[in-house]
Amino acid sequence: MSSADPLIRVENMVHRYTMAGETMTILKGLSFTIDYGEFVAIIGPSGSGKSTLMNMLGCLDVAGEGDYFLDGQEIRKLSDNKLAQIRNEKIGFIFQNFNLLPKLSAIENVELPLIYRKMPHRERREVARNSLVRVGLEERMHHRPSELSGGQQQRVAIARALAGAPPILLADEPTGALDTKTGQEVLQMIRELNEQGHTIILITHDLEIAQQAKRIIRIQDGNLVEDRRNV
Ligand SMILES: Nc1ncnc2c1ncn2[C@@H]1O[C@H](COP(=O)(O)OP(=O)(O)O)[C@@H](O)[C@H]1O
Ligand SMILES: [Mg+2]
Repeated sequence: MSSADPLIRVENMVHRYTMAGETMTILKGLSFTIDYGEFVAIIGPSGSGKSTLMNMLGCLDVAGEGDYFLDGQEIRKLSDNKLAQIRNEKIGFIFQNFNLLPKLSAIENVELPLIYRKMPHRERREVARNSLVRVGLEERMHHRPSELSGGQQQRVAIARALAGAPPILLADEPTGALDTKTGQEVLQMIRELNEQGHTIILITHDLEIAQQAKRIIRIQDGNLVEDRRNV
């Protein structure tokens, strides 16, 4: 692909789940592109297929039909090993429930994606520490998740997502487990990361949260029903 190609290109993405013999079509032919540096919210009510779409965009799963190009690569053609490598290199994940490993300290959690890349220990520590500095948590780096507040845990998760310098941050309801004020702080941090050049895809059911993004893609019942820029 040439440099003019978008970061993400989704074409006619369809996905079905079969449960107890019944097949449900969850994604019903979605098409859109996302450019480098965008801040996009994907909004829709609970059950509309947002997390299913996130799994596809994050290369955690491959849609039943349609094309997905990420940073120039056709995802459908890749082996599971290659998909794991793409996830590690291209995507920083931020989940509602933080997904930190409870027995590891903050800095050890942040080091995980770097261990996978086989970065040497000394360099890894340095990169992880810098990442924690970026989210304002360096003085808590030896704390375990249970010794941190929800907002601090989400900041550790953001530091982990940033550590490998991936082109995309993919956040699924990142403030869903936080109180309003802490959620606002986390959103402010996500906005700043976009201002620093990170591409952000923020998945939410909450319009007030989506309105902090520069563009809103609305999903309803597996269809893309709106795609607009925030002014
Ligand atoms: N692994 C799965 N197997 C079967 N059905 C699923 C699976 N994951 C999600 N679903 C169904 O797909 C629909 C959309 O789910 P999801 O993508 O999680 O929606 P959202 O994140 O918008 O709430 C729901 O009806 C859900 O029950
Ligand atoms: Mg969801």
